[in-house]
Amino acid sequence: MNAYNIAVIPGDGIGKEVVPAALRCLEAVADIHGGLKWNWTFFPWNCEYYLQHGEMMPEDGISTLKQFDQIFLGAVGMPELVPDHISLWGLLVRIRRECEQSINVRPAKLLRGLDSPLRNPEPFDFVVVRENSEGEYSQAGGAIHSGEDELVVQNAIFTRRQTAKAMKYAFELAAERRQSVVSATKSNGIVHSMPFWDRVFEEVGAAYPDAAARSVHIDALCAYLVMRPQQFDVIVASNLFGDILTDLGGAIMGSIGIAPAANLNVERKYPSMFEPVHGSAPDIAGKGIANPIGQIWTAKQMLDFMGYPELGELVLGAIEDSLSAGVKTGDLGGTATTEEAASDILARIYQRGK
Ligand code: NAD
Ligand code: IPM
Ligand code: MN
Repeated sequence: MNAYNIAVIPGDGIGKEVVPAALRCLEAVADIHGGLKWNWTFFPWNCEYYLQHGEMMPEDGISTLKQFDQIFLGAVGMPELVPDHISLWGLLVRIRRECEQSINVRPAKLLRGLDSPLRNPEPFDFVVVRENSEGEYSQAGGAIHSGEDELVVQNAIFTRRQTAKAMKYAFELAAERRQSVVSATKSNGIVHSMPFWDRVFEEVGAAYPDAAARSVHIDALCAYLVMRPQQFDVIVASNLFGDILTDLGGAIMGSIGIAPAANLNVERKYPSMFEPVHGSAPDIAGKGIANPIGQIWTAKQMLDFMGYPELGELVLGAIEDSLSAGVKTGDLGGTATTEEAASDILARIYQRGK
């Protein structure tokens, strides 16, 4: 029996609704496998915890998390209660950094049974590899003047080590896929960091002669993803560009509520963290109508990373079976509740697992 210790942080808003749905699916695949056991440990770290304790997690929160095999997280943020920069930097971003989850892998593909908002799209299937530890997400900078002359500076930080690492990951991934890597750039407008990003991309790409590599400006890339997403295989992007591209990826699939993500510590020195692309969706939280697919597909990414790709395929297949049968939540134009959608996927996991 392989037993895994998983830290579960449901977080805020719909995170608390979709995480239980995904855990049921993970329990189902463990049942089917027979030799796999999950030990869940729940951590109530969220904005309510912050209001009670004045911090998003205890002092020893990170060292506690580091003892687990993986982290499974819903979403963080209740901007009405706690400013986002406090809740996110106190929990989500902090875990990504301190557990050195420097690669964020975010697939987008046209699922069977789903209509994209794009008109008659050709089937598309691409993965955004997002640099997850630096770039535009930096704490360097601050207020220079106040009052009428108020002026703040935000410095982007790009290191060769992390930039090259994300790019190498992208080329290695492309070698298992369709051997194409597009780098999201803006070297026509950003003077220092993006020309550097392009140079590192060329240098890293030179070691992968079998891959087609090209740079595309981020503004044009957004347009291409709407007009012809089928042309893309692997896209490597900085932290902020990758963030934006992956909500777009979710949208062209049909909803950001289905988009999965994995924050990887590729060295496996510390746990990786699996949390979908979407946030806590305060506008629909508490109504029981959130789409659980983003969180369940994220569970598939955890299974893949942990060496159970056949179970991961089973989960994604069940998601597609369910969508093909017309079981859809409101964001996809249907009427299913979170519970109905999750139960349907669960039943189809068992059907496929027979
Ligand atoms: P959001 O992703 O929470 O919501 C954007 C829109 O998508 C909303 O209309 C929402 O209802 C819809 N949506 C999102 N997930 C859905 C789902 N599973 N099913 C159906 N509809 C879904 O983005 P936001 O509104 O910009 O952010 C809300 C809060 O979440 C903020 O505090 C933000 O910082 C935080 N956030 C957290 C994470 C994370 O923890 N990983 C990610 C993104 C945003
Ligand atoms: C995401 C989110 C986070 C990010 C925020 C909430 C800090 O948007 O995971 O996509 O920008 O990384
Ligand atoms: Mn985002």
